[in-house]
Amino acid sequence: DAGKSGYDHYMLKEIHEQPKAIRQCLRERVTELDSTVVVEELADLELSEPVQFVACGTSYHAAMFGAELLRERGIPAQTFLASEFGTDRVPIDESSLVVGVTQSGETADTMRALREANSVGATTLALTNTVGSSAARECDHVMYIRAGPEIGVAATKTFASQQVALAMLSSVLSAESSPAFVERLRALPDQIQQVLDESDARAVAETYEDSDAYFFIGRGFNESVALEGALKMKEITYKHAEGFAAGELKHGPLALVTDRTPVFALVTSERDAAKTLGNVQEVKARDAPVIAVTDVPEKVSEYADHVLEVPSAGPRFTPVLANIQLQLVSYWVANRLGRSIDKPRNLAKSVTVE
Ligand code: G6P
Repeated sequence: DAGKSGYDHYMLKEIHEQPKAIRQCLRERVTELDSTVVVEELADLELSEPVQFVACGTSYHAAMFGAELLRERGIPAQTFLASEFGTDRVPIDESSLVVGVTQSGETADTMRALREANSVGATTLALTNTVGSSAARECDHVMYIRAGPEIGVAATKTFASQQVALAMLSSVLSAESSPAFVERLRALPDQIQQVLDESDARAVAETYEDSDAYFFIGRGFNESVALEGALKMKEITYKHAEGFAAGELKHGPLALVTDRTPVFALVTSERDAAKTLGNVQEVKARDAPVIAVTDVPEKVSEYADHVLEVPSAGPRFTPVLANIQLQLVSYWVANRLGRSIDKPRNLAKSVTVE
């Protein structure tokens, strides 16, 4: 218990370690003196297109975020579930860049995909937390996310660190940066701290702890966060939870929405926020409680039963902050339900079988 530093669970400790984890991830890669991102270990990495990401679980959601960041910068990028990489015929050859996103660096599905990429002569990059891991040893390049050890089976700080590392990778691969981009990154640790200090997530969790199911919606950079919010909820509460791209709601999932299915709507100052607000109104009309996670409360509060506010960090990084609120909601629902938060049933921190 000494390792929990006074927190009831490693997961809660690790959620609170995120400002520190992000500072470590950024250290010497972005500085106030320079408007470029410098990742020393990637000095001789060359861009080849398209960039293909392979990953599982939470890391897959980070990879989705990373691919979108690259596409935003005009670099074609795709995300594959590592377990499907060998099955579904993904076109790779010696001109491909394959990025394995893996906290542990040992996930069997991800390692298989990376080995396959190596075997056809593709360039491989491991984005990992674990020095000396299989992924770090076997890939051509490695970028460390530097989150520090994570004990809780449900990934929290490593997800945030992956998001930030991928943002830096997108800058390195596109050779594009700006003072504003660097400033956004440098502001994140304090903004995360602000979310941790001011969050109302516990009260929201207490209000909805006995719901039938939880839904999470978001578009653009918020889509991967919606999926991650639902995964976290499933993993540690054992309750039904699903995340959707907000626009897909009307193509099926809306049939599940009732007054017993709270909907967490990620509405940030993004392009197309107005469309997500339209989706919020659709679920409201079916009597679902709406919890808006937002940096623009003035736009959403009239449609929301609760608002979990986050500071504005721009279209790319406000979703990183929104995710912290969702981690806290899941944690407090699981806590109220008395779940085995650090070691959920049936799950392992690192899955070394395919
Ligand atoms: C397991 C863990 C997940 C994790 C996934 C990928 O399923 O329970 O939390 O996201 O593996 O792990 P990796 O180490 O490759 O990121």
